[in-house]
Amino acid sequence: MTATLTAQESIARRYRSFAEREARGRSPLYEMLSLKVADDEAVLDFLGTLPEIKQQPNLLLGAVKYLFGAAPDWPHFKALIEQHRDQIRQCMLTHATQTNEAARCATLLPVLAQLPQPLALLEVGASAGLCLQPDRYAYDYGEGRVLRPHGYDDAPVLPCEVNAETPVPTRLPEIVWRAGLDLNPIDVRNHKQCAWLEALVWPEQDDRLARLRGAIAIARKDPPLLVRGNLLHDLAPLAAQAPKDATLVVFHSAVLAYVWPQDLREQFVRDVRALNAVWISNETWQVLPWIGAKTNGPPLPSFLLAVNGEPVAWTDHHGAFAHWCRATS
Ligand SMILES: C[S@@+](CC[C@H](N)C(=O)[O-])C[C@H]1O[C@@H](n2cnc3c(N)ncnc32)[C@H](O)[C@@H]1O
Repeated sequence: MTATLTAQESIARRYRSFAEREARGRSPLYEMLSLKVADDEAVLDFLGTLPEIKQQPNLLLGAVKYLFGAAPDWPHFKALIEQHRDQIRQCMLTHATQTNEAARCATLLPVLAQLPQPLALLEVGASAGLCLQPDRYAYDYGEGRVLRPHGYDDAPVLPCEVNAETPVPTRLPEIVWRAGLDLNPIDVRNHKQCAWLEALVWPEQDDRLARLRGAIAIARKDPPLLVRGNLLHDLAPLAAQAPKDATLVVFHSAVLAYVWPQDLREQFVRDVRALNAVWISNETWQVLPWIGAKTNGPPLPSFLLAVNGEPVAWTDHHGAFAHWCRATS
């Protein structure tokens, strides 16, 4: 009995934390629904029947949105879970949170533009590969600093706030090879898989939905090579396919949190460092705390962008800002 209550309480804490730290200020609906879930014994019970990895707020909210559209309020949301428990459960068991945010390219671009060109891009945890096309989007860094790709008139514009230290790019990178590795690559030509990506966008975020659709439309014309595999085992063979006369860049964003325990993340770091590549990581500082420890000042609740293990910027989870920071070493 006590064990059940403890398990419930830990799920409740997860939903409260999601509401307060992630949804607040971004999705009032998801903030409210997550807080209600945290206080609802029946829904917590339902979540308790799932493996821990499948109890995530984003997965439950995404599954309900995918199957039934966004529930407008708590009574609807709760009723859907009560009436379609098995269907929602099945959806959560067969899907994963694979949110692919093209706007993260705006925070990577200042680094990519400074590297010796041309580039060979290899993204681990690529989802649908939308971050593999940073040369195909338009960027607005404010104060008239706008970059547009040639030949992509419908490219989504990615707005990104910068600080005085951010090296705002003046050119787009030249990319001669691009490949992604993912446990479950999403095929941009598969409409059901794209519908899942859309369901993962939070309800009030119409700009993100428009961006996602724009990025998918671009990728459909020339999809990047996506390989099914594990970043812990399949990185080196894919990297070996990159052209030797280009700068190989191995990067990842919002991925290493899914890799644990910690020593597996460190194993990945050793594998990347063994390649002749530039390594860019864009993750919360907790996943590789030794990078966060090199920054000035307290860690921020955003992503930390690092190049070869050296912190360079605090970046918004969804690419809305890139604030350069100095490393202490
Ligand atoms: C939240 S998505 C991020 C997608 C993309 N990097 C972005 O920033 O938009 C995380 C992705 O990492 C993938 N992933 C998680 N663990 C992985 C692993 N061990 N090897 C390869 N891919 C993994 C998931 O399948 C998922 O597509």
